[in-house]
Amino acid sequence: MVEISPRLHNFAGLEPKAEVKNLNFYYGGSVHALKNIDLVIPERKVTALIGPSGCGKTTLLRCFNRMHDLYPGNRYEGEILLDGVNILAKKIDPIEVRMRVSMVFQRPNPFPKSIYENVIYGLRVQGTSKRSILDDKVEQALRGAALWEEAKDRLADSAYNLSGGQQQRLCIARALATDPELVLFDEPTSALDPIATASIEDLMNELKQQVTILIVTHSMQQAARLSDYTAFMFLGELMEFNDTNLLFNKPIHQQTQDYVSGRFG
Ligand SMILES: Nc1ncnc2c1ncn2[C@@H]1O[C@H](COP(=O)(O)OP(=O)(O)O)[C@@H](O)[C@H]1O
Ligand SMILES: [Mg+2]
Repeated sequence: MVEISPRLHNFAGLEPKAEVKNLNFYYGGSVHALKNIDLVIPERKVTALIGPSGCGKTTLLRCFNRMHDLYPGNRYEGEILLDGVNILAKKIDPIEVRMRVSMVFQRPNPFPKSIYENVIYGLRVQGTSKRSILDDKVEQALRGAALWEEAKDRLADSAYNLSGGQQQRLCIARALATDPELVLFDEPTSALDPIATASIEDLMNELKQQVTILIVTHSMQQAARLSDYTAFMFLGELMEFNDTNLLFNKPIHQQTQDYVSGRFG
Protein backbone atom coordinates (compact mmCIF):
# COMPACT_ATOMS: atom_id res chain seq x y z
CA MET A 1 0.00 0.00 0.00
CA VAL A 2 1.36 3.38 -0.98
CA GLU A 3 1.88 5.75 1.94
CA ILE A 4 -0.45 8.78 1.68
CA SER A 5 1.64 11.89 2.09
CA PRO A 6 0.20 15.33 2.79
CA ARG A 7 1.63 16.76 -0.43
CA LEU A 8 -1.04 14.84 -2.34
CA HIS A 9 -3.61 17.14 -0.78
CA ASN A 10 -2.92 20.56 -2.13
CA PHE A 11 -5.08 22.75 0.15
CA ALA A 12 -2.68 25.71 0.13
CA GLY A 13 -4.28 29.13 -0.14
CA LEU A 14 -7.90 27.92 -0.28
CA GLU A 15 -10.76 29.68 1.47
CA PRO A 16 -12.75 26.85 2.99
CA LYS A 17 -16.52 26.83 3.12
CA ALA A 18 -16.26 23.38 4.64
CA GLU A 19 -13.40 21.32 6.02
CA VAL A 20 -13.38 17.59 6.62
CA LYS A 21 -11.04 16.52 9.40
CA ASN A 22 -10.01 12.93 9.89
CA LEU A 23 -13.47 11.63 9.01
CA ASN A 24 -14.31 7.96 9.35
CA PHE A 25 -17.75 6.57 8.60
CA TYR A 26 -19.28 3.19 9.40
CA TYR A 27 -22.51 1.71 8.01
CA GLY A 28 -24.39 -0.20 10.68
CA GLY A 29 -21.29 -0.45 12.83
CA SER A 30 -19.47 -2.89 10.54
CA VAL A 31 -18.80 -1.49 7.03
CA HIS A 32 -15.93 0.98 7.35
CA ALA A 33 -16.84 3.03 4.25
CA LEU A 34 -14.73 6.18 4.78
CA LYS A 35 -11.20 6.14 6.14
CA ASN A 36 -9.36 9.12 7.61
CA ILE A 37 -10.68 11.64 5.11
CA ASP A 38 -9.22 15.16 5.08
CA LEU A 39 -10.72 17.57 2.57
CA VAL A 40 -11.25 21.28 2.01
CA ILE A 41 -14.30 22.51 0.06
CA PRO A 42 -13.41 25.97 -1.22
CA GLU A 43 -16.08 28.66 -1.02
CA ARG A 44 -18.07 29.48 -4.18
CA LYS A 45 -16.19 26.98 -6.28
CA VAL A 46 -17.13 23.65 -7.77
CA THR A 47 -15.34 20.69 -6.22
CA ALA A 48 -15.72 17.30 -7.91
CA LEU A 49 -15.45 13.92 -6.20
CA ILE A 50 -14.30 11.22 -8.60
CA GLY A 51 -13.25 7.60 -8.29
CA PRO A 52 -14.33 4.08 -9.20
CA SER A 53 -17.72 2.70 -8.29
CA GLY A 54 -18.02 1.76 -4.62
CA CYS A 55 -15.10 3.93 -3.44
CA GLY A 56 -17.28 6.02 -1.09
CA LYS A 57 -18.22 9.13 -3.10
CA THR A 58 -21.92 9.01 -2.25
CA THR A 59 -21.14 8.06 1.33
CA LEU A 60 -18.89 11.10 1.74
CA LEU A 61 -21.39 13.44 0.06
CA ARG A 62 -24.17 12.30 2.39
CA CYS A 63 -22.09 13.12 5.46
CA PHE A 64 -22.27 16.82 4.58
CA ASN A 65 -26.00 17.04 5.25
CA ARG A 66 -26.23 14.28 7.85
CA MET A 67 -28.31 12.07 5.56
CA HIS A 68 -26.86 8.99 7.24
CA ASP A 69 -28.65 9.93 10.46
CA LEU A 70 -31.87 8.74 8.84
CA TYR A 71 -30.75 5.11 9.24
CA PRO A 72 -29.99 3.51 12.60
CA GLY A 73 -26.53 2.23 13.43
CA ASN A 74 -24.56 4.52 11.12
CA ARG A 75 -21.66 6.25 12.80
CA TYR A 76 -19.41 9.22 12.04
CA GLU A 77 -16.03 9.84 13.64
CA GLY A 78 -14.11 13.06 13.10
CA GLU A 79 -15.38 16.46 12.04
CA ILE A 80 -16.94 18.35 9.19
CA LEU A 81 -16.62 22.07 9.80
CA LEU A 82 -19.10 24.32 8.03
CA ASP A 83 -17.95 27.91 8.47
CA GLY A 84 -15.81 26.57 11.30
CA VAL A 85 -18.62 24.78 13.20
CA ASN A 86 -18.62 20.98 13.46
CA ILE A 87 -21.92 19.88 11.91
CA LEU A 88 -21.38 16.27 13.01
CA ALA A 89 -21.56 17.28 16.69
CA LYS A 90 -24.40 15.61 18.62
CA LYS A 91 -25.92 18.94 19.64
CA ILE A 92 -26.38 20.05 16.02
CA ASP A 93 -29.87 19.47 14.58
CA PRO A 94 -29.59 17.55 11.26
CA ILE A 95 -32.71 19.28 9.95
CA GLU A 96 -31.02 22.65 10.30
CA VAL A 97 -27.95 21.30 8.57
CA ARG A 98 -30.14 20.20 5.65
CA MET A 99 -31.51 23.73 5.26
CA ARG A 100 -27.97 25.05 4.82
CA VAL A 101 -26.68 22.07 2.86
CA SER A 102 -29.13 20.81 0.27
CA MET A 103 -28.86 17.89 -2.07
CA VAL A 104 -29.72 16.92 -5.63
CA PHE A 105 -29.85 13.17 -6.29
CA GLN A 106 -28.83 10.92 -9.13
CA ARG A 107 -32.36 10.53 -10.45
CA PRO A 108 -34.83 13.41 -10.45
CA ASN A 109 -37.07 12.77 -7.43
CA PRO A 110 -39.87 15.35 -7.47
CA PHE A 111 -42.63 14.82 -4.93
CA PRO A 112 -46.13 13.87 -6.19
CA LYS A 113 -47.21 17.48 -5.91
CA SER A 114 -47.47 20.54 -8.09
CA ILE A 115 -44.42 22.30 -9.45
CA TYR A 116 -45.13 25.15 -7.02
CA GLU A 117 -45.39 22.89 -3.97
CA ASN A 118 -42.22 21.04 -4.92
CA VAL A 119 -40.20 24.26 -4.93
CA ILE A 120 -41.46 25.49 -1.56
CA TYR A 121 -41.35 22.14 0.19
CA GLY A 122 -38.40 23.11 2.43
CA LEU A 123 -39.92 26.50 3.22
CA ARG A 124 -43.15 24.84 4.36
CA VAL A 125 -41.07 22.56 6.61
CA GLN A 126 -39.45 25.71 8.01
CA GLY A 127 -42.93 27.10 8.71
CA THR A 128 -43.13 29.84 6.09
CA SER A 129 -46.74 30.23 4.95
CA LYS A 130 -47.11 33.81 3.68
CA ARG A 131 -48.27 33.57 0.11
CA SER A 132 -46.35 36.58 -1.20
CA ILE A 133 -43.08 35.28 0.27
CA LEU A 134 -43.69 31.83 -1.20
CA ASP A 135 -44.60 33.28 -4.62
CA ASP A 136 -41.38 35.30 -4.68
CA LYS A 137 -39.31 32.29 -3.64
CA VAL A 138 -40.86 30.11 -6.32
CA GLU A 139 -39.97 32.61 -9.02
CA GLN A 140 -36.49 33.21 -7.65
CA ALA A 141 -35.67 29.50 -7.27
CA LEU A 142 -37.11 28.55 -10.66
CA ARG A 143 -35.15 31.37 -12.30
CA GLY A 144 -32.05 30.17 -10.44
CA ALA A 145 -32.63 26.70 -11.85
CA ALA A 146 -33.29 28.03 -15.38
CA LEU A 147 -36.82 26.63 -15.36
CA TRP A 148 -38.94 29.75 -14.87
CA GLU A 149 -39.76 30.43 -18.51
CA GLU A 150 -40.87 26.85 -19.07
CA ALA A 151 -42.81 26.52 -15.82
CA LYS A 152 -44.31 29.91 -15.01
CA ASP A 153 -47.64 29.27 -16.76
CA ARG A 154 -48.08 25.80 -15.29
CA LEU A 155 -47.07 26.11 -11.64
CA ALA A 156 -50.14 24.17 -10.51
CA ASP A 157 -49.38 21.23 -12.83
CA SER A 158 -48.04 18.02 -11.40
CA ALA A 159 -44.25 17.87 -11.39
CA TYR A 160 -44.59 14.46 -13.00
CA ASN A 161 -45.73 16.12 -16.24
CA LEU A 162 -42.28 17.66 -16.73
CA SER A 163 -39.56 15.99 -18.82
CA GLY A 164 -36.65 14.28 -17.06
CA GLY A 165 -34.33 17.25 -17.56
CA GLN A 166 -37.01 19.66 -16.36
CA GLN A 167 -37.67 17.47 -13.31
CA GLN A 168 -33.98 17.58 -12.42
CA ARG A 169 -34.00 21.39 -12.75
CA LEU A 170 -37.09 21.41 -10.52
CA CYS A 171 -35.14 19.40 -7.95
CA ILE A 172 -32.36 21.98 -8.21
CA ALA A 173 -34.94 24.76 -7.67
CA ARG A 174 -36.22 22.88 -4.60
CA ALA A 175 -32.62 22.58 -3.36
CA LEU A 176 -32.07 26.34 -3.87
CA ALA A 177 -35.30 27.59 -2.30
CA THR A 178 -34.02 27.42 1.27
CA ASP A 179 -31.02 29.63 0.32
CA PRO A 180 -28.45 26.94 1.02
CA GLU A 181 -24.77 27.74 1.36
CA LEU A 182 -23.56 24.40 0.05
CA VAL A 183 -25.33 22.29 -2.59
CA LEU A 184 -24.46 18.61 -3.00
CA PHE A 185 -24.98 16.92 -6.36
CA ASP A 186 -24.74 13.13 -6.64
CA GLU A 187 -24.20 12.28 -10.32
CA PRO A 188 -27.00 14.70 -11.21
CA THR A 189 -26.89 14.11 -14.96
CA SER A 190 -26.41 10.35 -15.08
CA ALA A 191 -30.09 9.81 -15.94
CA LEU A 192 -30.27 12.64 -18.50
CA ASP A 193 -29.70 12.97 -22.24
CA PRO A 194 -26.78 15.09 -23.55
CA ILE A 195 -28.90 18.23 -24.11
CA ALA A 196 -30.41 18.17 -20.63
CA THR A 197 -26.92 17.42 -19.28
CA ALA A 198 -25.47 20.47 -21.01
CA SER A 199 -28.18 22.71 -19.57
CA ILE A 200 -27.56 21.41 -16.03
CA GLU A 201 -23.82 21.97 -16.48
CA ASP A 202 -24.43 25.56 -17.65
CA LEU A 203 -26.62 26.05 -14.65
CA MET A 204 -23.93 24.87 -12.25
CA ASN A 205 -21.49 27.32 -13.74
CA GLU A 206 -23.97 30.09 -12.95
CA LEU A 207 -24.79 28.80 -9.49
CA LYS A 208 -21.23 28.84 -8.26
CA GLN A 209 -21.36 32.65 -8.23
CA GLN A 210 -23.66 32.34 -5.20
CA VAL A 211 -23.18 28.94 -3.59
CA THR A 212 -20.51 26.37 -2.96
CA ILE A 213 -20.93 23.19 -4.97
CA LEU A 214 -19.74 19.66 -4.27
CA ILE A 215 -20.50 17.23 -7.09
CA VAL A 216 -19.99 13.50 -7.43
CA THR A 217 -19.50 12.47 -11.02
CA HIS A 218 -18.53 9.23 -12.72
CA SER A 219 -17.59 11.24 -15.80
CA MET A 220 -14.04 12.56 -15.86
CA GLN A 221 -14.99 14.79 -18.78
CA GLN A 222 -17.72 16.34 -16.67
CA ALA A 223 -15.34 16.86 -13.75
CA ALA A 224 -12.83 18.48 -16.09
CA ARG A 225 -15.47 20.74 -17.69
CA LEU A 226 -17.20 21.83 -14.52
CA SER A 227 -14.99 21.77 -11.50
CA ASP A 228 -12.33 24.06 -10.12
CA TYR A 229 -10.98 21.39 -7.75
CA THR A 230 -11.08 17.63 -7.86
CA ALA A 231 -10.72 14.98 -5.17
CA PHE A 232 -9.91 11.41 -6.19
CA MET A 233 -11.22 8.66 -3.91
CA PHE A 234 -10.18 5.03 -3.83
CA LEU A 235 -11.38 2.24 -1.50
CA GLY A 236 -12.83 4.66 1.03
CA GLU A 237 -9.78 6.92 1.16
CA LEU A 238 -9.18 10.32 -0.33
CA MET A 239 -6.05 9.72 -2.36
CA GLU A 240 -5.43 13.06 -3.96
CA PHE A 241 -6.88 16.57 -4.02
CA ASN A 242 -5.79 19.34 -6.33
CA ASP A 243 -6.72 22.04 -8.73
CA THR A 244 -8.68 20.16 -11.43
CA ASN A 245 -6.14 20.89 -14.18
CA LEU A 246 -3.27 19.66 -12.07
CA LEU A 247 -5.09 16.56 -10.92
CA PHE A 248 -5.88 15.54 -14.47
CA ASN A 249 -2.62 16.59 -16.09
CA LYS A 250 -0.09 15.99 -13.33
CA PRO A 251 -1.54 13.32 -11.07
CA ILE A 252 0.90 12.35 -8.36
CA HIS A 253 -0.47 9.12 -6.98
CA GLN A 254 -0.22 5.96 -9.10
CA GLN A 255 -3.91 5.12 -8.58
CA THR A 256 -4.91 8.64 -9.65
CA GLN A 257 -2.80 8.33 -12.79
CA ASP A 258 -4.35 4.98 -13.61
CA TYR A 259 -7.87 6.30 -13.05
CA VAL A 260 -7.59 9.57 -14.98
CA SER A 261 -5.87 7.83 -17.85
CA GLY A 262 -8.83 5.43 -18.05
CA ARG A 263 -6.95 2.31 -17.00
CA PHE A 264 -9.77 1.33 -14.65
CA GLY A 265 -13.28 2.63 -14.15
N1 LIG B 1 -26.45 1.46 3.11
C1 LIG B 1 -25.29 0.79 3.08
N2 LIG B 1 -25.01 -0.18 3.97
C2 LIG B 1 -23.83 -0.84 3.95
N3 LIG B 1 -22.84 -0.57 3.08
C3 LIG B 1 -23.05 0.39 2.17
C4 LIG B 1 -24.29 1.13 2.11
N4 LIG B 1 -24.21 2.03 1.09
C5 LIG B 1 -22.99 1.87 0.55
N5 LIG B 1 -22.30 0.89 1.19
C6 LIG B 1 -20.93 0.44 0.89
O1 LIG B 1 -20.04 1.53 1.08
C7 LIG B 1 -19.06 1.56 0.06
C8 LIG B 1 -19.10 2.90 -0.66
O2 LIG B 1 -20.32 3.02 -1.37
P1 LIG B 1 -20.76 4.35 -2.12
O3 LIG B 1 -20.49 5.51 -1.23
O4 LIG B 1 -22.15 4.17 -2.58
O5 LIG B 1 -19.74 4.38 -3.36
P2 LIG B 1 -19.76 5.27 -4.70
O6 LIG B 1 -20.77 6.35 -4.56
O7 LIG B 1 -18.36 5.78 -4.83
O8 LIG B 1 -20.08 4.31 -5.81
C9 LIG B 1 -19.33 0.38 -0.85
O9 LIG B 1 -18.50 -0.68 -0.45
C10 LIG B 1 -20.78 0.06 -0.57
O10 LIG B 1 -21.04 -1.31 -0.77
MG1 LIG C 1 -22.49 6.79 -5.69
